[in-house]
Amino acid sequence: MIIEPKTRGFICLTAHPTGCEQNVLNQIDYIKSRPTTDGPKKVLVIGASTGFGLASRITSAYGSNASTIGVFFEKPPKEGRTASPGWYNSAAFETQAHKDGLYAKSINGDAFSHEIKAQTLNLIKEDLGQIDVLIYSLASPVRTHPDTGERFKSVLKPIGGTFTDNTVDFHTGEVKEISIEPCAGDDIKNTVAVMGGEDWQMWIDLLKSEGALSNDFKTVAYSYIGPSLTEAVYRKGTIGKAKDDLEATAFKITDTLNDINGKAYVSVNKALVTQASSAIPVIPLYISLLYKVMKEEGIHEGCIEQIERLFNERLYTENLELDDAGRIRIDDWEMRDDIQAKVLELWKEATTETLPNIGDLKGYKTDFFNLFGFDVNGVDYDADANEMVNIPGLQA
Ligand code: NAI
Repeated sequence: MIIEPKTRGFICLTAHPTGCEQNVLNQIDYIKSRPTTDGPKKVLVIGASTGFGLASRITSAYGSNASTIGVFFEKPPKEGRTASPGWYNSAAFETQAHKDGLYAKSINGDAFSHEIKAQTLNLIKEDLGQIDVLIYSLASPVRTHPDTGERFKSVLKPIGGTFTDNTVDFHTGEVKEISIEPCAGDDIKNTVAVMGGEDWQMWIDLLKSEGALSNDFKTVAYSYIGPSLTEAVYRKGTIGKAKDDLEATAFKITDTLNDINGKAYVSVNKALVTQASSAIPVIPLYISLLYKVMKEEGIHEGCIEQIERLFNERLYTENLELDDAGRIRIDDWEMRDDIQAKVLELWKEATTETLPNIGDLKGYKTDFFNLFGFDVNGVDYDADANEMVNIPGLQA
């Protein structure tokens, strides 16, 4: 079928298998162009199908020939209806990995559930014995608690007062003011329940108790800080409380891993266009300006460049530097004083008229469509595409 983008706000309802495949192959090529490293060998990635998780899987597999198990929650295709992009990404990754002689299997389902954890544990035991790295890269709006059945919904709201600032509708380019009401009731608790550290800890506790973690095991979860411009809605908002909890959980997990010399880290990553971040108000305008400034400085990175740097210049080096709060920082270039000063200046000037020149709205849009396999260089969108793609290592 001929597949075209069908957007609704910040999501796209269709995905292009060939475009997703090309994105994955481009990321693989990038890692192959980098020096091989003494990185991880047996890796579990939770949230492995898109964004930072997919980049972590590719970096592990092609940077150090790691066997990878990916867990994700994606929609399979039906005749005449495309799958979600993470499905096609995973299919492309596994097809290529198998051709290259790499072990790669996947589990599609709710990572918050006991069932998916148990299935993953069994697969590790049967095929790998133990893992040496677990990357936790989930981004979800909801979580059903596996013990109580309670369903939590996360919200992206400021705490304590209404937040008013500019944002951009990246489809139309219109810069307009938005106001977001402060959170209320159980909003903070619910957001922490979804995006905080409890589920990460549950994964580690289970795998540890079953002897599925090797000596010197490492686990990394991803966080974000960002500038003062976005802090009311991000770091000092409800999602920021969840990230505080995630970061505190790293220390708790490390305490449970002493006997195997294990370590849990949080890596603070750069703001990038992903399905998760395009849903956050104000962030698209910030990213449009940030991209412009970082590209002009020659220091722009996507997920794959970020994660390659995380593995090769942080995690697998002799002296891993941490910030005052014990976190790994790969948002260092985003947060440079000169970069942030320029973004702040541009922010004050940003209007519907000025943004196409002072910001990188085009880059934002391209990245957004790329997430779904559209607008990818070298792909013939007039050619017939087969939507019924299988993931070769998918477990039933
Ligand atoms: P993403 O939306 O690209 O990826 C989310 C992944 O989680 C996908 O693989 C999806 O299938 C999986 N997933 C969602 N719900 C699931 C469930 N119930 N069970 C199993 N898998 C599920 O998100 P992105 O942006 O890569 O985010 C990953 C992490 O990185 C998040 O913790 C996010 O806060 C963090 N981060 C993101 C930044 C950004 O600018 N995008 C910046 C810094 C950190």
